Amino acid sequence: MNENTMTQTQDEQKRAVAQAAIQHVPIGSIVGVGTGSTANYFIDELAKIKHKIKGAVASSENTAQRLRGHHIEVLDLNSIDELPVYIDGADEITEHLHMIKGGGGALTREKIVAATAKKFVCVTDQSKLVKVLGTFPIPVEVIPMASSYVARAIVQLGGHPVLRQGFITDNGNVILDIHGLQILNPVELETNLNQITGIVTNGLFARRGANVLLLGTDKGIHTMDI
Ligand code: 5RP
Repeated sequence: MNENTMTQTQDEQKRAVAQAAIQHVPIGSIVGVGTGSTANYFIDELAKIKHKIKGAVASSENTAQRLRGHHIEVLDLNSIDELPVYIDGADEITEHLHMIKGGGGALTREKIVAATAKKFVCVTDQSKLVKVLGTFPIPVEVIPMASSYVARAIVQLGGHPVLRQGFITDNGNVILDIHGLQILNPVELETNLNQITGIVTNGLFARRGANVLLLGTDKGIHTMDI
């Protein structure tokens, strides 16, 4: 088998895009770092160039811990003026670079770091690219006392909310995973979910989607940007 015909496992694709993402890290910059297995591969790559960056902003406690484990300085987002790039995975992504994120429950901090960053580079294996978002349930982070109210409001929108059992976010909240919503207009649905009192954040990343997708495929890395 040559390089072009060799099939890569999902993990190999994740590792390959994590390596490729290093090219998007400006020398001397602070890097926003996502959460999840692909982000973990990226952190391991970032460690190899840690002397060339000023530090990192973490999107979760898990990510902060892994960065510190590599002796990469973790900076408070409030202490920095600009963040040139944010690198993170996704649970689903379309060719318009709209995403569902939050499978790992870190959606709120991920959305905050993504909002601050100039460029969002999404790194995924090929299984995450979809025509229409919504097979993966949309996570929403909810203030605990509002979970029943929010669940009823989601049912009104046509979704089936399921409480993520035994899971508390880094912010002390719960997650409802919304099944069964047809997401024909992700920007509109993201906005509508934002209106429900008690939802802290929803896992649709469409209003601020990715700028670049590095997609790991059997044939190598496919880059998409908008
Ligand atoms: C965590 C996320 C992750 O980016 C998403 O779940 C993808 O994870 P992985 O890289 O493990 O496939 O949004 O909240």
